[in-house]
Amino acid sequence: MTEEEAKAEAAESTYEDGPDEEGKMFTRPGKLSDYLPKPYKNEEAARHANNGAYPPDLTYITLARNDKEDYIFALLTGYCDPPAGVTIGEGQHFNPYFIGGAIGMAKALYNEAIEYTDGTPATASQMAKDVAVFLTWAGQPEHDERKRLFLRVLFYSTVTGLAAWVWKRNVWASLKTRTVTYVPKKKQEMMMLDVLFVSKNLMAGMLMIIHLKNMRNIQKIVNLYV
Ligand code: HEM
Repeated sequence: MTEEEAKAEAAESTYEDGPDEEGKMFTRPGKLSDYLPKPYKNEEAARHANNGAYPPDLTYITLARNDKEDYIFALLTGYCDPPAGVTIGEGQHFNPYFIGGAIGMAKALYNEAIEYTDGTPATASQMAKDVAVFLTWAGQPEHDERKRLFLRVLFYSTVTGLAAWVWKRNVWASLKTRTVTYVPKKKQEMMMLDVLFVSKNLMAGMLMIIHLKNMRNIQKIVNLYV
């Protein structure tokens, strides 16, 4: 259904609105933002027309019942004769999917009750499925948008969380990887002496090597002239 078609269908119903400048209520054609028109003026009128049973508001019925839309489908297609030994009150009907089995609503859907414009066979189960899907949508029309928003939030918070984690590791790296050791003062002095000793011997060794080289060079020069 296009938006234009939906607007035209909504305009077929009339709604009471107002008050106008004179304080009077008036009727106007329906808009897309209007709720579906109520079939009864009040609860009493509804009960009176339904043998004392009150037809419930079905807006949130798929959220309110176990098995959700499956319950609607089963209830709408599940009417049958009561089993032997079960008696049903006047104005009631047997439906095993309704709590207690006796429901005040008569079977609403029959094969060929309507005609689909696209030629879909109008079986009672096809209509029950459409009604169940519609009621699922009616319960939470923002469902798809909510799921899409959740995925977006999940993506951005994952990216931000990862960036924060990497940044935190970077900031703490110098603190977390350092080692603190305790060296007693005496041991420190001994270590210093060791270093001095080693470096002194190294120096002496190097000087000795230089000296020997020089001696060898002097010997070569003497050999040249003698
Ligand atoms: C396709 C159309 C309809 C759907 C999907 C529908 C759906 C339902 C559902 C799911 C319930 C049970 C609610 C519960 O679990 O508490 C119910 C109850 C009821 N419905 Fe319908 N209904 C439809 C048409 C009608 C019509 C046309 C009437 C009357 C003219 C009606 C009258 C009632 C009444 C009186 C009850 C209360 C039954 C009781 O408490 O014993 N329904 N309906």
